[in-house]
Amino acid sequence: MLPSTAQLRQTGGRELKRIVFDEETIAERVRELGREITAAYPDGDLVVLGLLKGSFIFLSDLVRRIERPLQVDFIVASSYGEGTVSSGNVRLVYDPETELAGKHILLVEDIIDTGKTLNKLVTLLRQRRPRSLEICALLHKHVANYLELEAKIVGLDAPTLFLVGYGLDHAENFRHLPYIASLT
Ligand code: PRP
Repeated sequence: MLPSTAQLRQTGGRELKRIVFDEETIAERVRELGREITAAYPDGDLVVLGLLKGSFIFLSDLVRRIERPLQVDFIVASSYGEGTVSSGNVRLVYDPETELAGKHILLVEDIIDTGKTLNKLVTLLRQRRPRSLEICALLHKHVANYLELEAKIVGLDAPTLFLVGYGLDHAENFRHLPYIASLT
């Protein structure tokens, strides 16, 4: 269900155009990703590292579908600010406290667009000498010119629209929507 007029007033007037991925589609895919991740890590310590803020809903649904021991931590970076185009100026706002050396790191991202955020984080995380480093992205636009590390686990191929909901925002609005929608 699209937001009411009253809700739109609280989101700076930007309107949702259409639902791109509904709740059931997302839930089914997250279940499959959980099975895929469980099978991909037969041994070793696994740290599921959520990239905030965008991955917070995806991460919390995903880890409940992974059936093996794991630790959860977060890393915070920001690049878009208030706009709809990546500034490319990726800022690290919070560094994980969990020891990463010798562990499998699965970096969880909500969406890969230009890839600039991930490129910076992959370089940084490799310096922590993990046993392995892989990326799990719910959405992938497949438009990046260059990726330091291609995502091993991808939920859904995304259209080249500005998407919001299920953790994704526009100027911090819409993150709470249970589905993924495009903006007008
Ligand atoms: C968004 C999104 C991804 C990144 C993808 O984060 O959550 O992390 O941009 O874009 P890119 O591939 O072009 O780098 P944002 O910087 O808006 O911060 P947020 O996670 O707090 O929304």
